[in-house]
Amino acid sequence: MSDFIDPIIVPKRVLSTGEMIPCIGMGTFGSDRFTAEQVSAAVAGAIRRGYRMFDCAAVYGNEDRIGKVFAEAFVENAVRREELFVTSKFWNDMHGKGDVLLSLARTLKDLRLDYIDAFFMHWPFPNYHAPGCDGDARNPDSRPFSADEFMAVWRQMERIHDMGLARNLGMSSMTIPKLEAVLPRCRVLPTLIEMELHPAFQQPALFDYCVKRNIQPIGFCPIGSPTRPDRDKTPDDVADTEMPEVVAAAKAHNVHPAVVCIKWAVQRGQIPIPFSVYENEYVSNLRCTTEDPLTPAEMEAIGKADKNCRLIKGQVFLWEGAKDWTELWDE
Ligand SMILES: NC(=O)c1ccc[n+]([C@@H]2O[C@H](COP(=O)([O-])OP(=O)(O)OC[C@H]3O[C@@H](n4cnc5c(N)ncnc54)[C@H](OP(=O)(O)O)[C@@H]3O)[C@@H](O)[C@H]2O)c1
Repeated sequence: MSDFIDPIIVPKRVLSTGEMIPCIGMGTFGSDRFTAEQVSAAVAGAIRRGYRMFDCAAVYGNEDRIGKVFAEAFVENAVRREELFVTSKFWNDMHGKGDVLLSLARTLKDLRLDYIDAFFMHWPFPNYHAPGCDGDARNPDSRPFSADEFMAVWRQMERIHDMGLARNLGMSSMTIPKLEAVLPRCRVLPTLIEMELHPAFQQPALFDYCVKRNIQPIGFCPIGSPTRPDRDKTPDDVADTEMPEVVAAAKAHNVHPAVVCIKWAVQRGQIPIPFSVYENEYVSNLRCTTEDPLTPAEMEAIGKADKNCRLIKGQVFLWEGAKDWTELWDE
């Protein structure tokens, strides 16, 4: 198979537990544009091209299809379960008593797995919106972050970790003030934190905060999510693939600017989880981690080009009386 990238040559990261994890995963959020069939077909192809990490979530609405693909891959000996690092997340409407175990049970059933490598709290509050809603939609039950409410959910996560059903626990879309409020209260610490990370939004303080505490950052929207839902687009958003520093490196390495975003992410130290349903794209994204690294000068130029441009602003999670989306991020 010509487009097979041997997982052995894909760089790894070591988690605080000592466990190894690939330096890149595949995202599975269809952004309300790609069907579950398209996304699961990409997962099937990606396994056979050498991907070993997949970022799933209940709210992406495709875990049952991806589970079928995993089961077929195991039967066909395309991969063994223990070679995969599968993550999932429970949605914001599952923060009540008993809900985390229930969500994990559903996810395991859908993914046809008997444990998950890492289970994430998708957002640090119970605010949710209807799938596919527009950017102005508000849920009257939404409320600000509460460390006590967060910890009640985290205690449930610690129990599924104790049971061995989730090998690692993760948080997502956190801020330093929120982490300061909850980390000292965790009995089982997160080994991974998902955050938006791409050249135009590098979150250096949060990134360093996690690395210092031996928590591995996973970077979502690593290419600047050009196909994100329309509700997450605003006129001021910067396109990462058009940033001069990214374009210059792309020309020098004769690759698409998207590939430069992935190289930059891996070399910086986060685990990017790019999404694509196109084989040529997802193969390039994996292959680029194994060859032709960016030079220190290119890394520095992109590092200095940060625009502090958050794309996933989360405005649909705002509560009544909130100023604007910056309040979600403690800004
Ligand atoms: N924890 C969270 O709250 C959270 C939030 C958001 C996302 N995520 C995760 O992060 C994953 C990735 O984020 P994302 O899907 O929003 O954004 P992304 O990976 O930054 O962008 C995906 C888009 O980039 C383009 N692309 C990918 N590889 C390419 C290549 N080699 N060359 C050219 N274009 C390429 C594709 O667009 P074209 O179709 O135009 O080629 C694709 O649809 C998601 O799938 C999800 O798993 C998690």
